[in-house]
Amino acid sequence: MLTGYERGMMRVFVAGATGAIGTRLVPQLIEHGHEVIGTHRSPGNAERVRALGAEPVALDLLDAPAVHRAVLEARPEAIIHQATALTGVRFGRSLDRSFAATNRLRTEGTDALLAAAREAGVRRFVAQSFASYRYAREGGPVKTEDDRLDPDPPAMARETNAAMRYLDDAVTNAGGIALRYGGFYGAANDGLVQPVRKRQFPVIGAGGGISSFVHLDDAAAATVLALGHDGAGLYNIVDDEPAPMSEWLPALAAALGAKPPRHVPLWLARLIAGKGMVMMADGSRGASNAKAKRELGWTPRYPSWRQGFPAAYGSAAPAEAHPAPSGGG
Ligand SMILES: NC(=O)c1ccc[n+]([C@@H]2O[C@H](COP(=O)([O-])OP(=O)(O)OC[C@H]3O[C@@H](n4cnc5c(N)ncnc54)[C@H](OP(=O)(O)O)[C@@H]3O)[C@@H](O)[C@H]2O)c1
Repeated sequence: MLTGYERGMMRVFVAGATGAIGTRLVPQLIEHGHEVIGTHRSPGNAERVRALGAEPVALDLLDAPAVHRAVLEARPEAIIHQATALTGVRFGRSLDRSFAATNRLRTEGTDALLAAAREAGVRRFVAQSFASYRYAREGGPVKTEDDRLDPDPPAMARETNAAMRYLDDAVTNAGGIALRYGGFYGAANDGLVQPVRKRQFPVIGAGGGISSFVHLDDAAAATVLALGHDGAGLYNIVDDEPAPMSEWLPALAAALGAKPPRHVPLWLARLIAGKGMVMMADGSRGASNAKAKRELGWTPRYPSWRQGFPAAYGSAAPAEAHPAPSGGG
């Protein structure tokens, strides 16, 4: 008789089950017949994990002995690392300051999970990485996983870029999969919603910097597929339409029923947001999803933010996705 693992059904340890992606991922894993142990960091979140259908475990990924204990006790066949520390983070001039805790989760947290995985004989390892603003600001507008990463990121984002690179290398060298997601959207508390509603998120310069997005449900679906995929690899998990800011930002404002975004010339944006932020926003490249489609068999339900933004935020969006009233602006 075939074991559950041989039939593709696994005991999956999801680190960060209560986050934006974790809460979409856990129900999809369960729907596919997996059994899920979901970790949370905030003490009150056990009930949220249980409501998603998973067995809750409170865990700080930066406590390596606790990670070791939790993984060995859970005896999973697979681990998915979706832990970040971005709730309530303020984005100022230094990305490294905003991402400091997340960077530790991507380095020390990844190491702790990988070490525990080795000891527990875990067979699959999938981790969250990021696609946007990382590829070298050179050549064409859309990059594949084979294209080089920015060799010289702005000073204020060096540690953040290094942490993502660390995660990509550590995970793939260990035989796992790193998913370079596009910018998430599809939840009420998406980071862009309030600033765009309040017209605090302007088009920078000519708005030529390219971004890649992905709907949270599509990101979760790709993650389920990655779990069933043999072999190590990097995958861009982004929609079909990398787009310049001059196109996606007005569309997002329209989907939210907000006024069109303001435009800010480069010199002024440098004064307000800093040189590094403008370098990234203005020069960014998008990412190609061809490899994920080809090798994982993934087809995004929202092939473009053009359908996804109105579906997530427009009047026909599910109640959960409607942002709370901004109270002004
Ligand atoms: N690709 C992207 O665009 C991208 C990627 C990541 C996040 N974001 C955005 O950032 C915002 C916040 O993200 P989020 O909702 O996922 O929340 P988050 O605060 O980043 O938390 C994510 C998960 O990590 C857990 N966690 C936090 N610190 C931990 C630690 N020290 N050890 C172990 N686990 C830890 C959290 O647990 P608790 O919930 O229990 O605290 C949660 O399960 C969202 O709007 C999201 O869309 C975007």
